[in-house]
Amino acid sequence: MVFHRILMQVIWVGVILSTIMAATATTFPLALPNCPDSCGNVKIPYPFGTIDGCYLNDTANIDDGYYFINCTSNAQGQPQPMIWNLNVTSISTESSEIDIQMYNSIDCYDQSGRPLSPDNAMSLYAPSFTVSVTKNKFVAVGCDTYAILSGALNGQLSRVGSESTCNKTLSVVNGTCSGIGCCQMAIPQDLTKIAFEAYSNSNHTQVWNLNPCSFAFVIQEDKFNFSSDYLISLRNNETLPMVLEWAIRAETCEVAQNTGNCICGGNSTCIDLKNRSGYRCQCRVGYRGNPYLKDGCQDINECDVKEANNCTSNQFCVNDVGLYHCLCLEGYHLDGEACVPNQAAPKLSLAISLAIGIIVGLSLLFVGGFWIYWGLQKRKLIKLGEKFFQQNGGLLLQQKLSNHKGSVETGKIYSAEELKKATNNYDECRVLGQGGYGTVYKKILPNNKVIAIKKSKIGNQTQIEQFVNEIIVLTHINHRNVVKLLGCCLETKVPLLVYEFITKGTISEHIHDKGLSSILSW
Ligand SMILES: *[C@@H]1O[C@H](CO)[C@@H](O)[C@H](O)[C@H]1NC(C)=O
Ligand SMILES: *[C@@H]1O[C@H](CO)[C@@H](O)[C@H](O)[C@H]1NC(C)=O
Ligand SMILES: *[C@@H]1O[C@H](CO)[C@@H](O)[C@H](O)[C@H]1NC(C)=O
Ligand SMILES: *[C@@H]1O[C@H](CO)[C@@H](O)[C@H](O)[C@H]1NC(C)=O
Ligand SMILES: *[C@@H]1O[C@H](CO)[C@@H](O)[C@H](O)[C@H]1NC(C)=O
Ligand SMILES: *[C@@H]1O[C@H](CO)[C@@H](O)[C@H](O)[C@H]1NC(C)=O
Ligand SMILES: *[C@@H]1O[C@H](CO)[C@@H](O)[C@H](O)[C@H]1NC(C)=O
Ligand SMILES: *[C@@H]1O[C@H](CO)[C@@H](O)[C@H](O)[C@H]1NC(C)=O
Ligand SMILES: *[C@@H]1O[C@H](CO)[C@@H](O)[C@H](O)[C@H]1NC(C)=O
Ligand SMILES: *[C@@H]1O[C@H](CO)[C@@H](O)[C@H](O)[C@H]1NC(C)=O
Ligand SMILES: *[C@@H]1O[C@H](CO)[C@@H](O)[C@H](O)[C@H]1NC(C)=O
Repeated sequence: MVFHRILMQVIWVGVILSTIMAATATTFPLALPNCPDSCGNVKIPYPFGTIDGCYLNDTANIDDGYYFINCTSNAQGQPQPMIWNLNVTSISTESSEIDIQMYNSIDCYDQSGRPLSPDNAMSLYAPSFTVSVTKNKFVAVGCDTYAILSGALNGQLSRVGSESTCNKTLSVVNGTCSGIGCCQMAIPQDLTKIAFEAYSNSNHTQVWNLNPCSFAFVIQEDKFNFSSDYLISLRNNETLPMVLEWAIRAETCEVAQNTGNCICGGNSTCIDLKNRSGYRCQCRVGYRGNPYLKDGCQDINECDVKEANNCTSNQFCVNDVGLYHCLCLEGYHLDGEACVPNQAAPKLSLAISLAIGIIVGLSLLFVGGFWIYWGLQKRKLIKLGEKFFQQNGGLLLQQKLSNHKGSVETGKIYSAEELKKATNNYDECRVLGQGGYGTVYKKILPNNKVIAIKKSKIGNQTQIEQFVNEIIVLTHINHRNVVKLLGCCLETKVPLLVYEFITKGTISEHIHDKGLSSILSW
């Protein structure tokens, strides 16, 4: 019962954790369904697996079973992935590499030159895996040392050797492995089933105080930095990092695909190994995941990852099945390869619009102001006219004229405007004559009636009634030899009298001129 409860709790924690994981990041399946995909901190992708049915059982390969990872507990009780009793630190499906911890080979002597350990050869019987050429170096450490590495290369035995020397006068240089106390060599391509061993030329008898042992190992190059410590501190059973390359070691892609044995999943490509039979799988461009699973390669959203797309700041990213494409942002258009801003419509500058506004405004103000001024002036003139009309006895005259209605002919009261038009604004050229009583103008009315206008002079108010009576009398006189008064205009400061125009000359001409006096009789 207790066990069941714990199991349920573990399952619940697992469900919650996997839900959180799924929500926070796109998870690519690594292992077969219902198979554990890790051991401790190490991810275990298919074709590797930790339990039966979860790793590739390559029956075509006589050395099958090597994709099995033994997930055991280490001395600290933590899960420890192992392959052939070697620690596994990482497995990659992308680079097809597996990182392991490999033992070194050690050959120690006592002070008298007797060997302490009879057989120290180290071997790695791994037919599916090759030692990475680019990542590893074969190293011999010691002052009286040589080492041999051997392995299978296309079915042939291959050997490489190295030798290092040093004595008290030839001091070791930290950080360099070039023959003094340390010697390193490249590993042949595609070497499998390796074995290596350290040897001594003269049982370390001459350098025993400095270095009693010889060492040989294959080590991940970027994790190795030689120092004099290696000469004394390397121990038996010590393991060092090493990189192996793995593949599906059976047949070529073509054969595997034709026989239906190719395990490469959807959206992946099969890649033949260069110099030997076997293949690898690789997700297509735009996909990521485990290409050895049926649906392992999944479309990556390049738009979510800045480094995965090269859309510029003028573009936005659209994720497609497999790949992605970049589109121009709003306000930009494609010009060749690049997105360039759309041509903006030419805009009036603020200064110009302001200037136009001010000019139009001022013009309206000016026209309006002028119109108001003109209206006021006209009103003033009318008022002035009315004032003069009254001053000059206009009302009295109007009254008297209405009393005489019905009589033969009455005078007319002209407006100042009418007379002004007719005399061309009292143009001097139309002046007929001048006397003590005022100036006389000639004018033609719109009905072609020719008249004479006299600008009379009224000294003071008392003369007004007299003047009005005179006008009334004059308008009623109708004599051949008396100039007929037609009317008057009282709207001007000086009253204007309108007479019939006579072409026969002035009185003085008739009086003084002998020729004319005969025409008119008194
Ligand atoms: C691999 O498969 C063969 C045949 O299918 C079987 O006999 C063998 O036991 C399997 N090996 C493992 C380790 O599962
Ligand atoms: C896994 O390793 C442990 C300890 O090294 C060993 O006892 C066990 O037999 C191994 N399991 C298999 C299946 O090889
Ligand atoms: C494997 O690693 C553990 C620590 O995780 C270490 O204690 C153990 O000695 C290692 N074994 C080998 C063979 O490298
Ligand atoms: C040196 O070691 C070899 C074995 O490695 C041994 O056969 C030989 O006797 C040793 N020589 C001396 C002088 O101890
Ligand atoms: C030390 O090395 C030098 C150069 O290889 C050599 O001449 C010399 O004899 C060596 N000394 C000893 C004690 O081995
Ligand atoms: C190797 O060690 C030496 C000192 O022992 C140090 O100066 C050098 O930087 C180290 N090189 C690397 C690559 O760590
Ligand atoms: C090399 O480095 C070690 C420490 O890593 C130091 O103890 C030793 O003295 C150094 N040797 C030389 C020759 O610098
Ligand atoms: C090395 O390890 C093996 C077991 O893996 C053990 O039997 C042997 O005693 C160890 N050697 C030393 C020197 O610790
Ligand atoms: C390849 O991926 C696409 C989308 O990710 C999917 O629809 C398609 O089925 C996949 N092809 C195969 C053969 O699995
Ligand atoms: C193929 O093998 C030949 C001979 O073993 C070797 O020279 C060549 O570098 C190898 N090519 C590759 C790509 O591994
Ligand atoms: C980046 O853009 C260029 C065209 O501008 C294209 O050819 C290239 O494939 C793009 N790179 C990636 C990783 O998509």
